This record gives sequence, structure tokens and C-alpha cells, in this order.
Amino acid sequence: MLRAPIVHYSPAPKDVVRVALDMLRLHKGELLFDLGCGDGRILIMAAKYYNVKAVGIEIRRGLARIAKENAKRAGVADLVEVIRGDFFRIDLSKADAITLYLSSKVNEALKMKFINELRDGTRIVSIFFPIPSWNPIEVRKVRTPIKDFNVYLYEMNPEIRR
Ligand SMILES: C[S@@+](CC[C@H](N)C(=O)[O-])C[C@H]1O[C@@H](n2cnc3c(N)ncnc32)[C@H](O)[C@@H]1O
Repeated sequence: MLRAPIVHYSPAPKDVVRVALDMLRLHKGELLFDLGCGDGRILIMAAKYYNVKAVGIEIRRGLARIAKENAKRAGVADLVEVIRGDFFRIDLSKADAITLYLSSKVNEALKMKFINELRDGTRIVSIFFPIPSWNPIEVRKVRTPIKDFNVYLYEMNPEIRR
């Protein structure tokens, strides 16, 4: 049985997504995971503008279906995969890059999973919520009509594992 969603759905503004993807410096053919992909907007923009394979994991059945439909409508269904499930249970070891828009508590809970599964050099961007006690290599601020968003970039390295 799937555990209950631990973060509410709130789509990241598109301008924030653009900045987050720019910070990741994605290359064609890389593999991106969006943990909690909502309506699939991050996956779709990553596939469309960077030609990467984008995998979204979404626990809410309705949203996972919408994300798939949106990818089809955007013409990137061949590059986008949506898994309906709990991201704590999905192997992330093949990821080149990861996007998060979750909460500080969930980011804290993901740290061990990242340390155990991700290769050195894997990039992580987290929208609004930093990963507690990890040092970002870059932080950008994005102003939107709703609120200001900080976007934090991390890269897995031996220091983090210590
Ligand atoms: C703040 S929304 C972000 C949506 C999308 N990434 C975006 O930036 O527009 C967080 C999403 O994570 C999903 N979620 C929460 N806990 C999850 C879990 N354990 N596994 C998979 N998805 C989860 C929620 O259902 C929600 O859609």
C-alpha cells in the first residue's frame, strides 16, 4: 500500500522552473527525475528545451494521469515517463539530475537516500526549500507575483557523504 502524500500539491511557477532547469545545465540524453511531479510541468520543460529523458514520480493518481496527458499534449511523451508511486521507494541511482519542490522536512528525510543512491556529480535543485545542513553551490532568487523563490543547487560529492 502507498503511504499518504506528505506534501500538498502546489505547482512551481514556470519562471521558477526555467531558472531551476537552467541551473542544472542539462545535456541532451541525460536522465532527470522530478520527485513529486504534479502536473508534469518540470518534466515537460526539461524534455522540450533540453532533450533529456525526464522521469516523474507522483503519489496522487489523478495528478500522475494529468502529467502523462500533458506530456502527450506537449509532444514529448517519448521523453517523459510518469511513475505513480512513492519516491522514497524508487531507485534513483541512474539519475544525472533531480528536481525537488517539497518541504524542508521531506528534504531532510531524502538526504540518506541521496547519499546511498546517487553518484558523485549528480545535480539536485530544490525549489524554495534548502536541503538542511548541505551547502548549495549556487542559490538564485526568482521574483514572482505570488512570492520570491530561492532555488538551491547541490552536487553530490565525497564531502556530502562524510
Ligand atoms: C509542491 S508539489 C510540486 C509539483 C511539481 N514538482 C512542481 O514543481 O510543479 C509536490 C508534489 O509532490 C507529490 N508528493 C508528495 N509526497 C510524495 C511521495 N512520497 N511520492 C511521490 N509524490 C509525492 C505531491 O502529490 C505533489 O504533487
